[in-house]
Amino acid sequence: MKQKHLIDLAKLSKDELMEIIELANKIMAEPDKYSEVCKGKIMATLFYEPSTRTQMSFKTAMLRLGGSVIGFDNPQNSSVSKGESLKDTITVVGGYTDIIAIRHPLEGTAKAASMYSAAPVINAGDGGHLHPTQTLTDIVTLYNEKGTLDNMCIGLCGDLKNGRTVHSLIKTMTNFKNNKFVLISTPELTIPQYIKDILNSSDCEYVFVPSLKEAIPMLDVLYMTRIQRERFASEAEYEKQKGVFVLDKEKLVSAKKDLKILHPLPRVDEIDEEVDYDPRAKYFVQTVYGMYARMALIMTMLKDVDRTPMPRQFDTSHVSCQNPNCITHREKYLPKLFRHVGGDMLICKYCDGRTLI
Ligand code: CP
Repeated sequence: MKQKHLIDLAKLSKDELMEIIELANKIMAEPDKYSEVCKGKIMATLFYEPSTRTQMSFKTAMLRLGGSVIGFDNPQNSSVSKGESLKDTITVVGGYTDIIAIRHPLEGTAKAASMYSAAPVINAGDGGHLHPTQTLTDIVTLYNEKGTLDNMCIGLCGDLKNGRTVHSLIKTMTNFKNNKFVLISTPELTIPQYIKDILNSSDCEYVFVPSLKEAIPMLDVLYMTRIQRERFASEAEYEKQKGVFVLDKEKLVSAKKDLKILHPLPRVDEIDEEVDYDPRAKYFVQTVYGMYARMALIMTMLKDVDRTPMPRQFDTSHVSCQNPNCITHREKYLPKLFRHVGGDMLICKYCDGRTLI
């Protein structure tokens, strides 16, 4: 893998992705063969936001490879509660460990952490932005359950605005051949502009469909998502959006026989529990694929790792990111970094937020 850190899966080439998928499958076939490959290595899991699957699958992945794990799942039990900056925490933990997985409620945090870490950093979810290792989980699942990552009609349903798993999955699947996206949401929870920009610059078709029932018959994959209550500005706004899309047995009557139903989980009420017994439901087996995907990722990232931290001096812009959920507003020392995309428009390198000069 050319990249030291994993911030965005779209930065990996198709060949690099296929190598990780193939390694995950080899580990799955013969797990005992890999039970000591990370002996002596230590992973830190720094979870500033709650998690069941990502945190526990990273931990079990490292333990099953023979390595060890340190970290926190509640920053209030660390010196973060005394006001320690992200930069200082990462500098210290990067000195103790061989690899860091970080989850944080603010967008761009993993990118910011990677700028100060001697150890490779994995983005385990940064606010409503990206979740690359969920996408790795999703593509290992699809490759095994569909036999391909090309030529699929992929429906994404629910909170497409705040769903970081949706953003990462679209970014990655546009790199494969002839995939079509069906975007099923209310107008308020549609995909953000930077994901629209990626779809527009790809060869992939996409359509917006307001009804799950109408969309289902055309789909090869249905990716259901939870309405992300914690990302709403008010409870009243969340109440307006919850329960709009619910997958149940009746809706599945018109679905293809070989449809695969995925969900990053946790589920709230968007998939009726009776669907769990339908052979097309793959969301629990998906969590197991996720552990093997993370084992393959850890092994790949620890191979020939360069522990030189990135330079601490960066050119900074005088402009501030206009995304209120960007990490640069919390960690004020972070240099302001943008890509200029023409005209008056800048794109924040941490969170992909658009900012007008
Ligand atoms: N899919 C996922 O990220 O789940 P957790 O929030 O439980 O880690």
